[in-house]
Amino acid sequence: MGVTIVTSPEAGAQLAARLIVDLVRSKPHAVLGLATGSTPLPTYAALADAVRAGAVSFGAVRGFALDEYVGIDPAHPESYHQVIRREVVQPLGMDPALVRVPDGVGADPAQACRDYDDAIRAVGGVDIQILGIGTNGHLGFNEPTTSLASPTHVTALTAQTRADNARFFDTPEQVPTRAVTQGLGTISQARTLLLLANGENKASAIAAAIEGPVSSMCPASLIQLHPDVHVIIDGAAASRLTLSHYDRL
Ligand code: PGA
Repeated sequence: MGVTIVTSPEAGAQLAARLIVDLVRSKPHAVLGLATGSTPLPTYAALADAVRAGAVSFGAVRGFALDEYVGIDPAHPESYHQVIRREVVQPLGMDPALVRVPDGVGADPAQACRDYDDAIRAVGGVDIQILGIGTNGHLGFNEPTTSLASPTHVTALTAQTRADNARFFDTPEQVPTRAVTQGLGTISQARTLLLLANGENKASAIAAAIEGPVSSMCPASLIQLHPDVHVIIDGAAASRLTLSHYDRL
Protein backbone atom coordinates (compact mmCIF):
# COMPACT_ATOMS: atom_id res chain seq x y z
CA MET A 1 0.00 0.00 0.00
CA GLY A 2 1.37 3.43 -0.90
CA VAL A 3 0.43 6.03 1.69
CA THR A 4 1.38 9.63 0.93
CA ILE A 5 0.81 12.40 3.44
CA VAL A 6 0.52 15.72 1.66
CA THR A 7 0.72 19.30 2.91
CA SER A 8 -2.76 20.30 1.75
CA PRO A 9 -5.88 18.92 0.04
CA GLU A 10 -4.83 20.83 -3.08
CA ALA A 11 -1.43 19.10 -3.11
CA GLY A 12 -3.24 15.78 -2.75
CA ALA A 13 -5.54 16.65 -5.63
CA GLN A 14 -2.55 17.46 -7.86
CA LEU A 15 -0.95 14.13 -7.02
CA ALA A 16 -4.16 12.19 -7.58
CA ALA A 17 -4.82 14.01 -10.84
CA ARG A 18 -1.32 13.16 -12.05
CA LEU A 19 -1.96 9.44 -11.54
CA ILE A 20 -5.22 9.67 -13.49
CA VAL A 21 -3.77 11.80 -16.29
CA ASP A 22 -0.86 9.35 -16.67
CA LEU A 23 -3.34 6.49 -16.99
CA VAL A 24 -5.54 8.24 -19.53
CA ARG A 25 -2.63 9.42 -21.65
CA SER A 26 -1.35 5.85 -21.92
CA LYS A 27 -4.84 4.34 -22.21
CA PRO A 28 -7.36 6.77 -23.76
CA HIS A 29 -10.18 4.22 -23.34
CA ALA A 30 -9.47 3.78 -19.64
CA VAL A 31 -12.24 2.98 -17.19
CA LEU A 32 -12.55 5.16 -14.09
CA GLY A 33 -14.54 4.47 -10.95
CA LEU A 34 -15.99 7.81 -9.89
CA ALA A 35 -16.60 8.82 -6.29
CA THR A 36 -18.91 11.66 -5.31
CA GLY A 37 -18.76 13.61 -2.04
CA SER A 38 -16.61 16.65 -1.30
CA THR A 39 -13.21 14.97 -1.16
CA PRO A 40 -12.58 14.26 -4.86
CA LEU A 41 -13.83 17.66 -6.08
CA PRO A 42 -10.38 19.32 -6.11
CA THR A 43 -9.05 16.29 -8.02
CA TYR A 44 -11.79 16.65 -10.63
CA ALA A 45 -11.01 20.38 -10.83
CA ALA A 46 -7.32 19.59 -11.39
CA LEU A 47 -8.29 17.13 -14.14
CA ALA A 48 -10.47 19.79 -15.76
CA ASP A 49 -7.47 22.14 -15.70
CA ALA A 50 -5.40 19.49 -17.47
CA VAL A 51 -8.12 19.09 -20.10
CA ARG A 52 -8.28 22.86 -20.64
CA ALA A 53 -4.49 22.96 -20.98
CA GLY A 54 -4.71 20.32 -23.71
CA ALA A 55 -2.64 17.84 -21.69
CA VAL A 56 -5.21 15.03 -21.86
CA SER A 57 -8.59 14.11 -23.28
CA PHE A 58 -11.29 12.20 -21.41
CA GLY A 59 -13.46 11.93 -24.53
CA ALA A 60 -13.07 8.16 -24.79
CA VAL A 61 -12.82 7.39 -21.07
CA ARG A 62 -15.56 5.31 -19.49
CA GLY A 63 -16.85 6.03 -16.00
CA PHE A 64 -18.82 4.11 -13.41
CA ALA A 65 -20.08 6.02 -10.39
CA LEU A 66 -19.64 4.33 -7.05
CA ASP A 67 -23.15 4.79 -5.77
CA GLU A 68 -26.53 6.53 -5.92
CA TYR A 69 -29.33 7.20 -3.47
CA VAL A 70 -32.45 5.06 -3.75
CA GLY A 71 -35.69 6.86 -4.45
CA ILE A 72 -34.23 10.21 -5.43
CA ASP A 73 -35.24 11.64 -8.78
CA PRO A 74 -32.19 11.45 -11.09
CA ALA A 75 -32.99 15.08 -11.98
CA HIS A 76 -32.66 16.18 -8.31
CA PRO A 77 -29.55 18.38 -8.00
CA GLU A 78 -28.14 16.19 -5.21
CA SER A 79 -28.74 12.89 -6.99
CA TYR A 80 -25.39 11.41 -7.91
CA HIS A 81 -26.57 11.34 -11.52
CA GLN A 82 -26.53 15.14 -11.40
CA VAL A 83 -23.39 15.44 -9.25
CA ILE A 84 -21.42 13.24 -11.65
CA ARG A 85 -22.76 15.17 -14.65
CA ARG A 86 -21.98 18.57 -13.07
CA GLU A 87 -18.65 17.84 -11.37
CA VAL A 88 -17.12 15.22 -13.65
CA VAL A 89 -18.69 14.61 -17.07
CA GLN A 90 -19.10 18.22 -18.13
CA PRO A 91 -15.85 19.71 -16.78
CA LEU A 92 -13.75 16.80 -18.05
CA GLY A 93 -15.45 16.69 -21.46
CA MET A 94 -16.48 13.06 -21.02
CA ASP A 95 -19.03 11.45 -23.33
CA PRO A 96 -22.23 11.09 -21.23
CA ALA A 97 -23.01 7.87 -23.09
CA LEU A 98 -19.85 6.33 -21.62
CA VAL A 99 -20.61 7.22 -18.01
CA ARG A 100 -22.95 5.18 -15.90
CA VAL A 101 -24.45 5.82 -12.46
CA PRO A 102 -26.32 3.11 -10.50
CA ASP A 103 -30.09 3.10 -10.94
CA GLY A 104 -31.81 4.11 -7.72
CA VAL A 105 -35.35 4.37 -9.05
CA GLY A 106 -35.91 1.30 -11.25
CA ALA A 107 -38.59 -1.33 -10.68
CA ASP A 108 -36.11 -4.18 -10.12
CA PRO A 109 -33.20 -2.92 -8.01
CA ALA A 110 -31.61 -6.36 -7.60
CA GLN A 111 -31.48 -6.86 -11.36
CA ALA A 112 -30.15 -3.33 -11.83
CA CYS A 113 -27.31 -4.15 -9.41
CA ARG A 114 -26.41 -7.33 -11.31
CA ASP A 115 -26.52 -5.39 -14.59
CA TYR A 116 -24.15 -2.79 -13.15
CA ASP A 117 -21.51 -5.34 -12.19
CA ASP A 118 -21.96 -7.04 -15.57
CA ALA A 119 -21.45 -3.70 -17.34
CA ILE A 120 -18.20 -3.10 -15.45
CA ARG A 121 -16.95 -6.59 -16.33
CA ALA A 122 -18.04 -6.17 -19.97
CA VAL A 123 -15.65 -3.25 -20.49
CA GLY A 124 -12.77 -5.09 -18.87
CA GLY A 125 -13.03 -3.74 -15.32
CA VAL A 126 -12.13 -0.46 -13.67
CA ASP A 127 -8.57 0.81 -14.10
CA ILE A 128 -8.54 3.38 -11.30
CA GLN A 129 -11.26 3.49 -8.67
CA ILE A 130 -11.36 6.90 -6.98
CA LEU A 131 -12.55 6.61 -3.39
CA GLY A 132 -13.37 8.85 -0.46
CA ILE A 133 -13.92 7.44 3.02
CA GLY A 134 -16.79 7.98 5.42
CA THR A 135 -16.23 9.11 8.98
CA ASN A 136 -17.44 5.59 9.86
CA GLY A 137 -14.96 3.96 7.48
CA HIS A 138 -17.42 3.32 4.68
CA LEU A 139 -16.34 3.02 1.04
CA GLY A 140 -19.01 4.07 -1.41
CA PHE A 141 -22.10 3.37 0.69
CA ASN A 142 -20.70 0.11 2.04
CA GLU A 143 -21.49 0.73 5.68
CA PRO A 144 -19.82 -1.12 8.59
CA THR A 145 -20.63 -4.87 8.61
CA THR A 146 -21.03 -5.03 4.81
CA SER A 147 -19.49 -8.22 3.42
CA LEU A 148 -16.01 -7.56 2.12
CA ALA A 149 -16.98 -9.69 -0.91
CA SER A 150 -20.29 -7.94 -1.66
CA PRO A 151 -21.39 -7.22 -5.24
CA THR A 152 -23.26 -4.04 -6.12
CA HIS A 153 -26.28 -3.97 -3.84
CA VAL A 154 -28.96 -1.89 -2.16
CA THR A 155 -28.17 -0.89 1.41
CA ALA A 156 -29.67 1.05 4.30
CA LEU A 157 -27.65 4.11 5.30
CA THR A 158 -26.41 4.47 8.87
CA ALA A 159 -27.49 7.42 10.99
CA GLN A 160 -23.87 8.64 10.85
CA THR A 161 -23.82 8.70 7.05
CA ARG A 162 -27.18 10.43 6.83
CA ALA A 163 -26.00 13.06 9.32
CA ASP A 164 -22.72 13.52 7.40
CA ASN A 165 -24.63 14.03 4.13
CA ALA A 166 -27.33 16.31 5.56
CA ARG A 167 -25.28 19.33 4.45
CA PHE A 168 -26.27 18.60 0.84
CA PHE A 169 -30.01 18.81 1.58
CA ASP A 170 -32.35 21.48 2.95
CA THR A 171 -33.27 19.39 6.00
CA PRO A 172 -31.72 16.23 7.53
CA GLU A 173 -34.98 14.34 6.91
CA GLN A 174 -34.54 14.78 3.17
CA VAL A 175 -31.41 12.61 3.11
CA PRO A 176 -32.48 9.31 1.56
CA THR A 177 -32.45 6.29 3.86
CA ARG A 178 -31.19 3.80 1.28
CA ALA A 179 -28.68 3.70 -1.51
CA VAL A 180 -27.33 1.43 -4.21
CA THR A 181 -23.57 1.03 -4.05
CA GLN A 182 -20.83 -0.82 -5.81
CA GLY A 183 -20.02 -3.60 -3.38
CA LEU A 184 -16.71 -4.11 -1.63
CA GLY A 185 -16.14 -7.11 -3.87
CA THR A 186 -16.82 -4.90 -6.90
CA ILE A 187 -14.45 -2.21 -5.68
CA SER A 188 -11.71 -4.70 -4.89
CA GLN A 189 -11.70 -5.87 -8.52
CA ALA A 190 -10.52 -2.46 -9.76
CA ARG A 191 -6.89 -2.63 -10.86
CA THR A 192 -5.89 0.39 -8.79
CA LEU A 193 -7.56 1.97 -5.77
CA LEU A 194 -7.00 5.68 -5.14
CA LEU A 195 -8.25 6.59 -1.68
CA LEU A 196 -8.38 10.28 -0.79
CA ALA A 197 -9.10 11.85 2.59
CA ASN A 198 -8.63 15.22 4.22
CA GLY A 199 -9.37 16.66 7.62
CA GLU A 200 -9.39 15.66 11.26
CA ASN A 201 -12.88 14.16 10.97
CA LYS A 202 -11.43 11.40 8.77
CA ALA A 203 -8.43 10.64 11.02
CA SER A 204 -9.99 7.75 12.97
CA ALA A 205 -11.38 6.08 9.87
CA ILE A 206 -8.04 6.44 8.06
CA ALA A 207 -6.11 4.98 11.02
CA ALA A 208 -8.53 2.03 11.16
CA ALA A 209 -8.34 1.49 7.40
CA ILE A 210 -4.53 1.56 7.20
CA GLU A 211 -3.33 0.30 10.59
CA GLY A 212 -6.34 -1.52 12.02
CA PRO A 213 -7.37 -5.11 11.42
CA VAL A 214 -9.12 -6.04 8.18
CA SER A 215 -12.69 -5.96 9.33
CA SER A 216 -16.13 -5.30 7.93
CA MET A 217 -16.54 -2.89 10.85
CA CYS A 218 -14.19 -0.63 8.86
CA PRO A 219 -15.05 -1.36 5.23
CA ALA A 220 -12.12 0.75 4.01
CA SER A 221 -9.75 -1.75 5.66
CA LEU A 222 -10.45 -3.72 2.48
CA ILE A 223 -7.56 -1.77 0.95
CA GLN A 224 -5.16 -3.97 2.93
CA LEU A 225 -6.16 -6.91 0.72
CA HIS A 226 -5.63 -5.09 -2.57
CA PRO A 227 -2.34 -5.26 -4.50
CA ASP A 228 -2.27 -1.69 -5.86
CA VAL A 229 -3.49 1.02 -3.53
CA HIS A 230 -2.58 4.71 -3.39
CA VAL A 231 -3.75 6.51 -0.26
CA ILE A 232 -3.35 10.29 -0.44
CA ILE A 233 -4.20 12.13 2.78
CA ASP A 234 -3.47 15.47 4.34
CA GLY A 235 -1.77 15.85 7.71
CA ALA A 236 -5.02 16.17 9.61
CA ALA A 237 -6.44 12.96 8.16
CA ALA A 238 -3.10 11.27 8.94
CA SER A 239 -2.99 12.57 12.52
CA ARG A 240 -4.06 9.31 14.17
CA LEU A 241 -1.66 7.04 12.32
CA THR A 242 0.84 5.58 14.78
CA LEU A 243 3.61 4.47 12.40
CA SER A 244 5.99 6.92 10.80
CA HIS A 245 7.32 5.34 7.60
CA TYR A 246 4.78 6.89 5.24
CA ASP A 247 5.79 9.07 2.30
CA ARG A 248 5.48 12.81 2.81
CA LEU A 249 5.15 15.28 -0.02
P1 PGA B 1 -16.89 13.29 1.60
O1 PGA B 1 -17.57 11.86 1.71
O2 PGA B 1 -15.88 13.19 0.51
O3 PGA B 1 -17.99 14.23 1.28
O4 PGA B 1 -16.23 13.56 2.93
C1 PGA B 1 -16.79 10.72 1.61
C2 PGA B 1 -17.64 9.51 1.86
O5 PGA B 1 -18.65 9.59 2.58
O6 PGA B 1 -17.28 8.43 1.36
